[in-house]
Amino acid sequence: MTIRLATQPYKGARDFYPADMRLRQYWSTQSQKVVEAFGYEPYDGPVLERSEIFEAKTSEEIVSEQTYRFTDRGGRDVVIRPEMTPTFARMVAAKSGELIYPLRWYAFPNLLRYERPQKGRLREHWQLNCDLVAPKIIPEYELEMFRLIIALMQTFGAKPTDYVIRYNHRGLSDALFKNAYRLNKGQRKEVFYLLDRADKTEPDVLKKMAKDISFSVFEKIHDHLKSSQNPGEIFQDVQSETSFEDFNTLSQIVSEQPCIKFDPSIVRGFEYYTGLVFEVVDTHPDNRRAILGGGRYDNLISNFSKQSLQGIGFGWGDVTFRDFLNIHGLVPDEITKPTKTVSLLASRDVLPFVLQVQNQLQEAGISCRLLLSESDKMFKSGLKNALKHLAKYMIIIGPDEAGSQKLVLKTIQTREDKILSVTDCIKVLQTG
Ligand code: HAM
Repeated sequence: MTIRLATQPYKGARDFYPADMRLRQYWSTQSQKVVEAFGYEPYDGPVLERSEIFEAKTSEEIVSEQTYRFTDRGGRDVVIRPEMTPTFARMVAAKSGELIYPLRWYAFPNLLRYERPQKGRLREHWQLNCDLVAPKIIPEYELEMFRLIIALMQTFGAKPTDYVIRYNHRGLSDALFKNAYRLNKGQRKEVFYLLDRADKTEPDVLKKMAKDISFSVFEKIHDHLKSSQNPGEIFQDVQSETSFEDFNTLSQIVSEQPCIKFDPSIVRGFEYYTGLVFEVVDTHPDNRRAILGGGRYDNLISNFSKQSLQGIGFGWGDVTFRDFLNIHGLVPDEITKPTKTVSLLASRDVLPFVLQVQNQLQEAGISCRLLLSESDKMFKSGLKNALKHLAKYMIIIGPDEAGSQKLVLKTIQTREDKILSVTDCIKVLQTG
């Protein structure tokens, strides 16, 4: 007996059939246009990295619980990249002396995290990463992150009421917990950890996660943070911190923007963030996960290089992109139905003329798929097949058409047929 293998992909990973792939490509090609308009340049890195670069300064949860980590055949401790930022920092540091600043780069890496697959979270996802590096990040560069995000959302048809960019300052929060709440380093780390999970975890589960501080202290801090939308008020005890002025300037610049909101409970899970941190959340009640996240990291690059360089950037995943578009009805028709490709239903007996027509159409920029059959079976099998492809037009070439060097152009919706020369057919298709 033949044993058949399972056809489903590995848990939490996806097969991209053409309609899924078109959506992912729509995301990457449109995003690419937006980020390149801001001067971002493409880069990429390896899927495998030495484990140490993630241990240096990333998220403990990601390193200890979510990485695919193994020893390679040469005895090296390696991980499949769970995020791009450490690779990006390593690459910038490797050539820090010759790069031109501010440096703006983008990439679309696929990343693997050993997470429990759920809505908005899978084990493999693709992520648009945009990062800016300079010797000193000024508030205007921080603002550029928000402008980029708004431009990206706009390009996919999102309205400013469809999402909110929530932001905070991780360094100031740390100073606040230290000065006002007298928390030691370990306790502050735990508060960040709990805050990052508070919105997506049941209270009794969250309570069990509190080890270094009492949960009631955490609740007090959380309520305090949630009670204020004003950076000047919440950070009044730490206004002497050097970063306060820049953060206040940024807050004032964005205060008029309805889709940008200060939220001191946003802290983000990565330990390398030192300053501004932000997340984009969908305002739709059925899609509450963060759809994009990022922040500023002043010390990550110095793990690899003596040159002092600060960075800021964000990651936007394809899974949350898809959920966002679906829930707001923003998936364009041509993604689900590739109506732009023409079906060329033709007889095998007149192949030389058929191929000549296909070449001419392709040279004119018209996509054209061949459906060949015997002359007498052409309509029976071919028409049905062409209709299944959801094409707007169909071209038919049988022995009669080839004999007169013409073709039949059928408009699928109206079933209207026109006998045309190839040149005239191209004109119709280019305008239609
Ligand atoms: P992150 O918050 O871990 O940040 O991920 C950013 C975005 O990637 C999330 O908001 C979500 O859209 C998507 N994402 C993350 N994990 C998953 C998952 N398991 N399944 C599906 N989508 C996911 C970072 O990765 C930072 N390295 C971003 C960054 C770039 N910071 C500065 N530069």
